[in-house]
Amino acid sequence: MKLLCLNFKMNLLKKDVLKYLKCIDNKIDKDNIIFFPSIPYIELFTKENYLVGSQDISFKDFGSFTGDTSIEQLKELGIKYTLIGHSERRKYFDDDKYISKKIKLAVENNIIPILCIGEELKGDQSETNAILKEKLDEVIIENLILLNNDNLIIAYEPIWAIGSDIIPNNNDLKNTISFIDNYLINTYNLHLKILYGGSVNLDTLDSLEKIKELDGYLIGSFSLKPENVLAISKKIM
Ligand code: PGA
Repeated sequence: MKLLCLNFKMNLLKKDVLKYLKCIDNKIDKDNIIFFPSIPYIELFTKENYLVGSQDISFKDFGSFTGDTSIEQLKELGIKYTLIGHSERRKYFDDDKYISKKIKLAVENNIIPILCIGEELKGDQSETNAILKEKLDEVIIENLILLNNDNLIIAYEPIWAIGSDIIPNNNDLKNTISFIDNYLINTYNLHLKILYGGSVNLDTLDSLEKIKELDGYLIGSFSLKPENVLAISKKIM
């Protein structure tokens, strides 16, 4: 079963979320779809027994960090997953040095982090591989002792593919996913789930579905309409 991670980013108001929930009511696979709504709406999803994640966590557990939300606080709302290092967080807010700390905090709290990695510009395969290797090493070397095959998920999201309606060609994507998989196995003895994110929609899905190595998708704007989610889950589940 593929995993569908639905990243609402900073979209939707409460009335939209309530309408959304009404529309998907009992029509989706609650074990394989994870919602990433804005923090104020997390409990609307957990109340209905949907799997929920946060879009980020603070790098600290408690204290004077105005504007941050700690993992303990998010756990109280019922999250089981968290995105870490999404490119929008990296661009506007996150310092790279905090990403490894956030992964540690999540894993120690039994929350599964979905580490987002990707290259900014479309380059050749060796350049892409070098960037991905660096982003993986940055997080895994420090936390290796805590990690196993089930407590970390990787989302490969080429930044140029996010919100652009352009996805990598099949051959490139297949090579990149294989690179990540082989690198993790050969270097760290980790066999992790690998998702793809960036302009996933019903049109791009046909081509993405040909890549058997993918374990699921991280979907942004297309997931904001519940009917899209119903259509996509029908197609892949
Ligand atoms: P997109 O976003 O599906 O709108 O391209 C994906 C993401 O940012 O996670």
